[in-house]
Amino acid sequence: MADYDFDVLVIGSGPGGYVAAIRAAQLGLKTACIESRETLGGTCLNVGCIPSKAMLHASELFEEAASGKLAKLGIKGSVTLDLETMHAQRRDAVKGLTGGIEYLFKKNKVEWIKGRGAFTGADTVAVGDKSYRARNIVIATGSSVTPLPGITVDNDSQIIVDSTGALELAKVPGHMIVIGGGVIGLELGSVWKRLGAKVTVVEYLDMILPGMDSEIRKESLKVFKKQGIEFKLSTKVTGASVEGGKAMLSVEPSAGGDTEIIEADVVLVSIGRRPNTDGLALDKAGLAVNGRGQVEIDHDFSTSVPGIWAIGDVVPGPMLAHKAEDEGIAVAENIAGLTGIVNHDIIPSVVYTMPEIAGVGLTEEQAKERGEIKVGKFPMMANSRAKTNHEGDGMVKVIADAKTDRVLGVWIIASLGGTMIAQAAQAMEFGGTSEDIAYTCHAHPTHSEALKEAAMAVQGKPIHI
Ligand code: FAD
Ligand code: NAI
Repeated sequence: MADYDFDVLVIGSGPGGYVAAIRAAQLGLKTACIESRETLGGTCLNVGCIPSKAMLHASELFEEAASGKLAKLGIKGSVTLDLETMHAQRRDAVKGLTGGIEYLFKKNKVEWIKGRGAFTGADTVAVGDKSYRARNIVIATGSSVTPLPGITVDNDSQIIVDSTGALELAKVPGHMIVIGGGVIGLELGSVWKRLGAKVTVVEYLDMILPGMDSEIRKESLKVFKKQGIEFKLSTKVTGASVEGGKAMLSVEPSAGGDTEIIEADVVLVSIGRRPNTDGLALDKAGLAVNGRGQVEIDHDFSTSVPGIWAIGDVVPGPMLAHKAEDEGIAVAENIAGLTGIVNHDIIPSVVYTMPEIAGVGLTEEQAKERGEIKVGKFPMMANSRAKTNHEGDGMVKVIADAKTDRVLGVWIIASLGGTMIAQAAQAMEFGGTSEDIAYTCHAHPTHSEALKEAAMAVQGKPIHI
């Protein structure tokens, strides 16, 4: 080791950083991970994926009981909301999982260095008054909320909040305005809608969920509207103030026009996230960020400075936990001299609303730009299990190359879409065709049969529509 303290020093313990640290240690490298939060697991485990899913799950059960959906199944009785207990189970989930990472660090002999890391050279990082020298440094510092100019987020006030504040609201708002019809806005907007709030989503573009297949975006909008969420599309927010415990939001058409003031009890700002590099002193390591604030990397996750690597939300690409995790494994393997690869063309994405909205690969628009395609669709209403479970909203869409039949993209709106998309990703990773999916035996009755039928529809021969 000469005078190195570590073979691998990871900055940040989110899904990218903690996975990289564990895999590096598994490969026999002396590894430490610097984390400034009080618990490990990053955004995802502390204030992101996990707490949001805990609230989505609980609020969905509440809504099923409170709206009379369960009564239709013969399950009767009135329910009341105990929001404090709902928050407590969310905190328990977070505590259990973040503690689990601490256990895994101990098990794999990864040292947790507590505090904020800042480069002092190309191979040294300072944390407080201590300095650590490492043969390899992995930047996995993640991302945080993009601020909206003119709007001050104050999570403590519980009036103008970001996603972290929206997870912690002590009472159900009468009216919640969500700025941004993206993933966070729709997931957390759904939580509070189900718990009784009126929810209005203000979106700058003329459609929600940018980046997804356009037909899926339009169908999703219909489903959310049916659930009672209101939308103000092509609308921009120009300012917000807090008066007498209420937020007053000024909005106007994106293309310009008359200003309207909307009053809300809570405003959620969810217009995207930006990479965390402030205070890292990247310049001391000889690194700079690109125009979007990201650390640029090569295909093997190396940066322009030898021995410094970067992964997860801080590098270009989708800001998703599973993408960060896979990059964590790959970067550790590359550092160890193995070949770590992530196929960035096949990263599934899921919006965990009800129904879930999931996709992998190309949208229909992107696929058409590349050549001739065939598209097969199947409505969830024609899937026996979904229909039986009263989960008929949604569809599956398979996009295949017209000549080779290779699957280029799969898009799903279905109650179990997030689970179903895994088999589509796997088929695509294996270079599968729509015929491969159509002739694979799927268990009956399952929601997954809808994917098989959509693949059969690509061949022109679905059975159940
Ligand atoms: P992060 O998880 O952001 O972790 C980075 C860590 O580095 C942080 O803990 C931070 O404290 C630490 N850090 C930063 N700088 C320093 C420093 N200088 N010194 C020491 N420590 C530092 N993704 C999904 O795939 N599925 C979901 O369901 C999902 N839900 C989400 C819900 C919400 C509300 C939010 C906000 C995000 C969600 N995401 C989801 C996105 C997901 O959380 C991120 O893509 C993922 O956490 C990125 O992982 P990361 O390791 O790159 O960074
Ligand atoms: P997002 O990028 O998904 O959506 C932001 C939305 O805000 C876009 O529709 C955009 O057009 C709109 N917008 C931007 N500026 C605006 C303005 N001034 N006024 C009105 N609308 C405006 O970002 P979001 O929802 O904040 O999520 C951030 C990241 O977190 C995403 O990249 C996502 O990958 C990740 N995430 C993933 C989840 C999942 O995988 N289920 C869940 C939650 C977050």
